Amino acid sequence: MGPILDPIELPGAADHALVILAYPVWYLAPALPIASFLNSPEAHALLIGKPVITVVTARNMWVMAQQSVARKLSGLGAHLLDHIALVDPAPPLATFITTLRWVLSGKRQQQPLGLPDAGLAAAQIAQCRRFGLALVPALAADHEQRGTALLRGLEACHVDPALAWSERIGFRSFYLWSLLLRRIGPQGSSARRLGVLVYLCILIILICTLVPITLALRKLVFAVSPARARARQAALELPSGNGSERMPEFAP
Ligand SMILES: Cc1cc2nc3c(=O)[nH]c(=O)nc-3n(C[C@H](O)[C@H](O)[C@H](O)COP(=O)(O)O)c2cc1C
Repeated sequence: MGPILDPIELPGAADHALVILAYPVWYLAPALPIASFLNSPEAHALLIGKPVITVVTARNMWVMAQQSVARKLSGLGAHLLDHIALVDPAPPLATFITTLRWVLSGKRQQQPLGLPDAGLAAAQIAQCRRFGLALVPALAADHEQRGTALLRGLEACHVDPALAWSERIGFRSFYLWSLLLRRIGPQGSSARRLGVLVYLCILIILICTLVPITLALRKLVFAVSPARARARQAALELPSGNGSERMPEFAP
């Protein structure tokens, strides 16, 4: 359950040809305000029968969150047309340190140990122009009504199958621990605080061990069964995919 939102005014919403829904990921799930929005009557009124493009910003683990948003959209009668994933370009273990520091201190730059800035690079954001450039002629020709992706061939989203695997394990761990912590005691109680502290330690150990292990396993899985691994990756990258064939036209 997310926070209670102020009423959202969306004048003329029924006339929009397309909705672009952007959200960040918090703890492998859509950020709480967007989760609240998707459960609201306003979302239903806005999204029913509409084609939607989702844009996710994340450290690098967004697959579970997007699956949950896609399910919600389908439940609201919307049609997921495209998905763009914008993730921190630094290596996963580096971003674990830099994102944590950013979240806890608000400092995105001047990271310790010479690590790169946290978050998206300015160039990545500037290069998102290609999506707008591709959408303009597509919308002018009403292609959003065809129900097929408009942003294929533009490197809209890339899934690392190993990280997706870690995510599934992490998601289950979040779920089970949340049930346990709720039973331990009410919010703010000493028992709950101790439980959270224990889980925090387990989580840090899990991230530091699981991520490198799954990254190593990925190499093994790709070596043993490359076609299967690629098919799994392609399925998670739907509907827009990771192709680059239209990049010369829209991002020369
Ligand atoms: C509380 C919190 C939890 C987060 N959890 C995740 C996560 O599970 N996976 C991930 O890839 N990024 C995670 N992040 C990183 C955010 O997705 C990242 O901060 C966001 O993309 C940046 O957008 P913003 O500048 O609007 O916050 C988390 C950030 C916060 C603040």
